[in-house]
Amino acid sequence: PARDWECAADVVVVGAGIAGLTTALGARERGLRVVVVAATTTGTATALAQGGVAVVDGGDPLDSPGLHVADTIAAGAGLVEPRAAQMVVAYGAAAVATLVQRGARFDHDANGTLRRTMEGGHSRPRIIHAGGDATGAEIQRALGRAAHHEHPGIVVLGGSTVTDLAVQAGVVAGAKVEDATGAIGIIHAPAVVLATGGLGQLYEVTTNPLGSRGDGIDLALRAGAAVADMEFVQFHPTMLYLPRTSGTCPLISEAVRGEGAVLRDHDGQRVTAPARGGDLAPRDIVARAIADRMARTNTQHVYLDARHVEGFAQRFPTITRLCRSEGIEPARDLIPVAPGAHYHCGGISTDRSGRTTVPGLFAVGEVARTGLHGANRLASNSLLEAAVMGDRVAEAIAAEDHVPGRARRRGGSLHRATVEWPACAPSTMPLADIPLRAVQGLMSRHAGVVRDEVGLEHAAGRLEDAWHGPALVARAIVHAALHRRETRGCHTRSDHPRSDPAAARSTTIRFADGMII
Ligand code: SIN
Repeated sequence: PARDWECAADVVVVGAGIAGLTTALGARERGLRVVVVAATTTGTATALAQGGVAVVDGGDPLDSPGLHVADTIAAGAGLVEPRAAQMVVAYGAAAVATLVQRGARFDHDANGTLRRTMEGGHSRPRIIHAGGDATGAEIQRALGRAAHHEHPGIVVLGGSTVTDLAVQAGVVAGAKVEDATGAIGIIHAPAVVLATGGLGQLYEVTTNPLGSRGDGIDLALRAGAAVADMEFVQFHPTMLYLPRTSGTCPLISEAVRGEGAVLRDHDGQRVTAPARGGDLAPRDIVARAIADRMARTNTQHVYLDARHVEGFAQRFPTITRLCRSEGIEPARDLIPVAPGAHYHCGGISTDRSGRTTVPGLFAVGEVARTGLHGANRLASNSLLEAAVMGDRVAEAIAAEDHVPGRARRRGGSLHRATVEWPACAPSTMPLADIPLRAVQGLMSRHAGVVRDEVGLEHAAGRLEDAWHGPALVARAIVHAALHRRETRGCHTRSDHPRSDPAAARSTTIRFADGMII
């Protein structure tokens, strides 16, 4: 293909949130030459994360890794892979220690002990946080600084997008990039790590930033990689309700309920059932209760009542600022909230070192499906997973000659490219031109909190020619949602309202010759 520049690296990392930067730093510390390609280095989903990092680090004598694993499995509604959960929980304390060593400052009490809070589905208060409710912003600051200033060996291409992966004889050989100037570049590399985050922007309203359009899943599907659990899009129960029809809406952290806030409807009645965990049930249950109440009362939102939460403005400075900018004073006013697309539990299938089904291609963070989240992610397990898996991926790339027939290259100066750039198969295929706005409308109407066969069939029909981009990712979600004829975790089918024990397994799909199989 036409190109303006060309270079070589040991690893290309796509994305610069916690998953991408942890991978990049880990790979660089192991002597590899790293190029990070990212549309944004500050406007990531990580930077918006509020609640915190769930971790068992020995600081609470009543907590244990076994309890955290059990909570993760319970929230995941039958689809969590226990070995993935055990591994991520076991490595959690070390991953948090690495974040601290890289400069992240978490909140401590006057005795110097890490502060911990509760969130839905957790049996112990094990969520550590930073800046009250600015945990992700602090992690982004610390890792960004470490990658930019302390590791000159990491080249960061901001404002840049990977448009295609090079796959040669079934093996990843590099990536094609459109850089910030609009120039086309080719990076030859035996390992590419997708860390592009989620896909909330496939919906009309979401807590996710503009870049969360499923780009990594699109690249992986077109490269022939398997993806799994695509139907499990998690809706956060308490997105600040703003009378908007599209865009990113502020999150009201689950930690607000962890500190005692309660959900009320327009008549002041409680929304959740105490017998099912009340306001601190796993978020699929809370989101469904809210959606149900909104439907029964014919309203667009419910309310979060945090008026009695002591010291709210000190504990939640970010949320206070966001609310005040909309004219809401949490100490005095009820906060209007509604469920919003928040997190994709499924994604690119990986093993416990982040390897996908395509040699040389890795995935980490929200874009990956490790088996940790199952059908519904436990709150604050996402930053944890990204921190743990980023290092596992770096270790796997450094330790293995993972590309058959090609010698591993470490350190040193740029090497001469030894592979020919293959034709990128997808660019020879027809592309359905479905605007993102149309995809968002279809997904919000037919593949949202509550789905049914008629709506999903309609969406599937509209998306069936999508071979590329957000529409292809939406097509894969709709395909998986249509075929899961039951309600499980964050996949709710009004026409199949119960879970089917026979369906308690993941659905893996691939994209080949224009077909989802
Ligand atoms: C929140 O603060 O409620 C978000 C935490 C998460 O998504 O895990």
